[in-house]
Amino acid sequence: MNEAMKNIMARRSVREFSDKPISADVLKEITEAGIAAPSGMNRKTWHFTIVTDQKKIADLAKAIGGVIDRKDYNFYQPTALIIPSNDPENHLGADDNACAMQNIMLAAQSFGVGSVWINQLKGICNEPTIRTQLDTLKIPGNYVVFGLAALGFPKNDFPPAHEFTGNYDIV
Ligand SMILES: Cc1cc2nc3c(=O)[nH]c(=O)nc-3n(C[C@H](O)[C@H](O)[C@H](O)COP(=O)(O)O)c2cc1C
Repeated sequence: MNEAMKNIMARRSVREFSDKPISADVLKEITEAGIAAPSGMNRKTWHFTIVTDQKKIADLAKAIGGVIDRKDYNFYQPTALIIPSNDPENHLGADDNACAMQNIMLAAQSFGVGSVWINQLKGICNEPTIRTQLDTLKIPGNYVVFGLAALGFPKNDFPPAHEFTGNYDIV
């Protein structure tokens, strides 16, 4: 198996992070992997926001917690977030962002950085308390977030690779 395949097969979601920060260079490379993802008609209307300020992460989590009625909501206390957002007028925006998310999670894994897809912003971006936080993060005014990546070095080992359970035919 080549190195890229090994990385794909080893990727797992991580939900317990150490305090060790991720360097800006690594976060930029991980984000560039997102930007390298395919997009419908190559429009790339997405925007990416890297957040490492712990107060900003906590403030966004608190706003989400208020809307979804989970007071202690905290994204699993990551050291960083990468938030892809997209133009609501782009009917393929959610698909494009999902491709970017996968590249982000695979790139993170390749650096030994754990990641997990966070779904909680989906459908609630325009709640006023959430939009206020998105504005603070300079996410373009009407852009929507479908999923975001919570990132950090794993507190423990990466979870073991899944047993391969795929089911396919070659016809
Ligand atoms: C569209 C999507 C939404 C997800 N939302 C969440 C989430 O909100 N919180 C979470 O802990 N994991 C979330 N996950 C991660 C999945 O639970 C995880 O990928 C799945 O259980 C398989 O585990 P693995 O990533 O370790 O292979 C999401 C994954 C996808 C693809």
